[in-house]
Amino acid sequence: MVPSALQTVRLGPTSLEVPALGIGTWSWGDKLYWDYGNTYDREQLHASFAAATEAGLVLFDTAEVYGLGESERLLGAFMKGSPYPVCIASKYFPFPWRIFPQQVVDALDATLERLGRSQVDLYQIHWPLHFLLGHKTLLKTLADQVKAGKIRAIGVSNYSAAQLREAHGYLKEWGVPLAVNQVQYSLLERCIERNGVLAAARELDVAILAYCPLAQGLLTGKYGRETSLPPTGARRLDPRFTATGFAKILPVVDALREIGDRRDRTAAQVALNWLITRAQVVPIPGAKTPEQVRDNVGALGWSLSPEEGDLLATLTQEF
Ligand SMILES: NC(=O)c1ccc[n+]([C@@H]2O[C@H](COP(=O)([O-])OP(=O)(O)OC[C@H]3O[C@@H](n4cnc5c(N)ncnc54)[C@H](OP(=O)(O)O)[C@@H]3O)[C@@H](O)[C@H]2O)c1
Repeated sequence: MVPSALQTVRLGPTSLEVPALGIGTWSWGDKLYWDYGNTYDREQLHASFAAATEAGLVLFDTAEVYGLGESERLLGAFMKGSPYPVCIASKYFPFPWRIFPQQVVDALDATLERLGRSQVDLYQIHWPLHFLLGHKTLLKTLADQVKAGKIRAIGVSNYSAAQLREAHGYLKEWGVPLAVNQVQYSLLERCIERNGVLAAARELDVAILAYCPLAQGLLTGKYGRETSLPPTGARRLDPRFTATGFAKILPVVDALREIGDRRDRTAAQVALNWLITRAQVVPIPGAKTPEQVRDNVGALGWSLSPEEGDLLATLTQEF
């Protein structure tokens, strides 16, 4: 599945070996948050998909709710014409009206149909919610679908340490491993190092899929006081994308640029490499253009020195 030269990570004790860097596709087809159709289009996303697969980045993270199914639909269409085998991680959304196991199976079937596949490689519970269905029943339903061959590996997302332990314990009873906990993790969002999530994942051998690893573009350094580039979509309402927000992160962006300049790397590559050098952490940066994909690929194949890693960790301790 993965070109042999590319750095890879095994997702927990599963058979899934993926590139050490994935591609996030929340913005693919999403008009509500990301402004799809205005500032970027399907053609650009198709070219991004092609650039990623050509470079060996074959792990794509999507969800049934992204673009109300459009992200999965686009991936399904792009995969059809592609010569490369692709690893798809999608997500089940635990809506409160989903109270019967059959509704979970129906959601999975709809995802498979949009993707044009008979199996999804990784199926994650998007948020730790289960309402009247119950956590155990939800996980049992997914475990049964692993046995039925529709899911290759199960993951969770946004789970606390306690919720992760509970999910891991239930799945263990049925002999099904837990592959990942997908959580927000970047130099500007390091909560999982303090709240027990990272420690629990390491102890249980569960990989971390790091979402928003570029802090939605902030860690690339392209948004800031000295540039006039306005963020698109709902980021315009995010206080981090204001003069005060930019001032707060300036020392971090400066350090990323300094390290990058010394190594002939971009700030984005340095920020992603900082995550890649953490064991069992796979960043999944969102990308809208082939140029962004190619830039992000440059985060692989080298390592920050321990001193550089420590400097960035010290500068971002409060985040
Ligand atoms: N499980 C969850 O609850 C959850 C929540 C959020 C996200 N996610 C997943 O995580 C993925 C990544 O998160 P995200 O997309 O929100 O944030 P992100 O990866 O931190 O930032 C992505 C954005 O940064 C910009 N960018 C990316 N690479 C760049 C580069 N090399 N140079 C310059 N700009 C670059 C692009 O936006 P612009 O060009 O417009 O600046 C891109 O859309 C999502 O796509 C999704 O799959 C999951």
